[in-house]
Amino acid sequence: MKRLLFFLMLVLSSYPLLSQKSEQIINVDGRINISLNGAWQIIIDPYENGYYNYRRLPDPGGYFLNIKPHNKSERIEYNFDASETLNVPGDWNTQKEKLFLYEGTVWYKKSFDYKKKNNTRVFLYIGAANYEAITYFNGEKLGEHVGGFTPFNFEVTGKIKDGENFVVVKVDNKRLREGVPTLNTDWWNYGGITRDVKLIETTQTFVRDYYIQLKKGSTNQINGWIQLDGKNLGQKVHLQIPEAGIDGLVTTNEHGFGEINLDANLILWSPQNPKLYDVIVKSEEGEIKDKIGFRSIETRGSGIYLNGRRIFLKGISIHEEAPVRSGRANSVEDARKLLGMAQELGCNFVRLAHYPHNEYMIREADKRGILVWSEVPVYWTILWENKPTFENASNQLEEVITRDKNRAAIVLWSVGNETPRSEPRLEFMKKLAEKARSLDPARLITAATEIHYIDPKTIMTDDPLGQYLDVLGCNEYIGWYDGLPAKADSIKWVSAYDKPLVISEFGGDAKFGYHADSLTVWSEEYQENLYTHQIKMLKKITNLQGMSPWILMDFRSPRRPLPGIQDFFNRKGLYSNLGEKKKAFYILRNFYNSEFTTK
Ligand code: GCU
Repeated sequence: MKRLLFFLMLVLSSYPLLSQKSEQIINVDGRINISLNGAWQIIIDPYENGYYNYRRLPDPGGYFLNIKPHNKSERIEYNFDASETLNVPGDWNTQKEKLFLYEGTVWYKKSFDYKKKNNTRVFLYIGAANYEAITYFNGEKLGEHVGGFTPFNFEVTGKIKDGENFVVVKVDNKRLREGVPTLNTDWWNYGGITRDVKLIETTQTFVRDYYIQLKKGSTNQINGWIQLDGKNLGQKVHLQIPEAGIDGLVTTNEHGFGEINLDANLILWSPQNPKLYDVIVKSEEGEIKDKIGFRSIETRGSGIYLNGRRIFLKGISIHEEAPVRSGRANSVEDARKLLGMAQELGCNFVRLAHYPHNEYMIREADKRGILVWSEVPVYWTILWENKPTFENASNQLEEVITRDKNRAAIVLWSVGNETPRSEPRLEFMKKLAEKARSLDPARLITAATEIHYIDPKTIMTDDPLGQYLDVLGCNEYIGWYDGLPAKADSIKWVSAYDKPLVISEFGGDAKFGYHADSLTVWSEEYQENLYTHQIKMLKKITNLQGMSPWILMDFRSPRRPLPGIQDFFNRKGLYSNLGEKKKAFYILRNFYNSEFTTK
């Protein structure tokens, strides 16, 4: 009878109605947390046999139960503990040769011991899993998450036991027409639990979320809010910035929400002085600490102003790939390497393409004073008229803004990249822009739009999406997909907007170490020549306020097979995938160190 009841409970709990994703918890590393990183046992499951029965119906007795035979006659056709492992965090493609091109489901299982504590709530946090994850705890379904680049968490307080517990995650990286991104991308579809997994311990009522930034347009007023989570929601919460002599009181309402409005005399964050303050939010049961920079970012006509001073964004685009190993970057060491390479190039700005990067990148940019363009993977031919697709994009945007809204480094939220113009696309992206603005009024909204010619020598930037953006990003490939490098010399640019223009992409491929004359494609000299002509052209654009050429480092792409040259790498990097500098690196660095960009 007991086994029947246990089985019934499991059957019920495996259906979505009983699963709950808890509200996103921010600043996880500022909290008490236990890492579940390391080796996880896995089962590669291309037919999703661990989820569906042979009639393709959800199987209540799936792999997520992690059950063992009770006697010699019991037949169980899987065994995590006898299975191979994958490291978490980490994409599976670069960990196992047989998974290099794999697209499908991999089951992950981690067992761990836990000692329950009084008056403590426990949450399971996953930094990212690409693309669709279903998470189970001690055999019970917690919930689902869609989107490969944003965090999610589940409360497990009532489920975690003294002694051994286990987590099972079904990760499926199949590309979907209705997905975000959709089927076609120019980057590798790295699958897996690609970022940290942790248990977070909190008090019964705790500070779950907060927004602490300068009020838009101000440099001496802190604006924002605090959100408690728990039962004791009406509290007097202290917001302290000791170094600035601030100890403000925030009264939270019956929903645990309290607004912040404080005068503040602060040293402003900037590339020259990336000042971060220790900020403490103290509620009745505990406190959370964070390091927050305060700065203002705004546009005036075609200028971008940081702390009231015009700034030229000397940038570079970056994919989330680690140098040398070329797998998904996921650590503070990877972040230090990539941002160090960008700073060596003379950058004060990075475009983190084409999806939210890991939180280490953003916090490292905070520390280094590097401005950041953060982007959701609304990329190319999204299914604009499919409501669940919009909900998915909107949810990913909300999750990255929730996670990173206190990071001074982030100055631009991008709602997408190089999307073909149409009414449905305009409606879709306009709504995303409005959503970003409502979630975070203190930052600028942008997107990488596409150019078009109004005559053979004149390029127009007039994407209708531009009316909803603060900064017009735009990609162009003169000298690569569009003519030879010298074509740039005769091109004029006009804009339909009196808004700042950031050339969010230009560039061309070069195989490191391949040398020839400047018109031999794939040579370093060709790429060097392209950059020379591009920069000469771009300097003539009156509303140019920045650029993020494509791209810092060669990166894997299934769309780039050319043997001996690409070998499934996009070679537009100024560094090779092994971190070697190409000749064009020095062209861009000289420009970034010139008077034009530092005036
Ligand atoms: C596009 C796209 C990039 C792509 C690049 C290229 O502009 O935004 O994701 O990698 O061009 O073709 O190399």
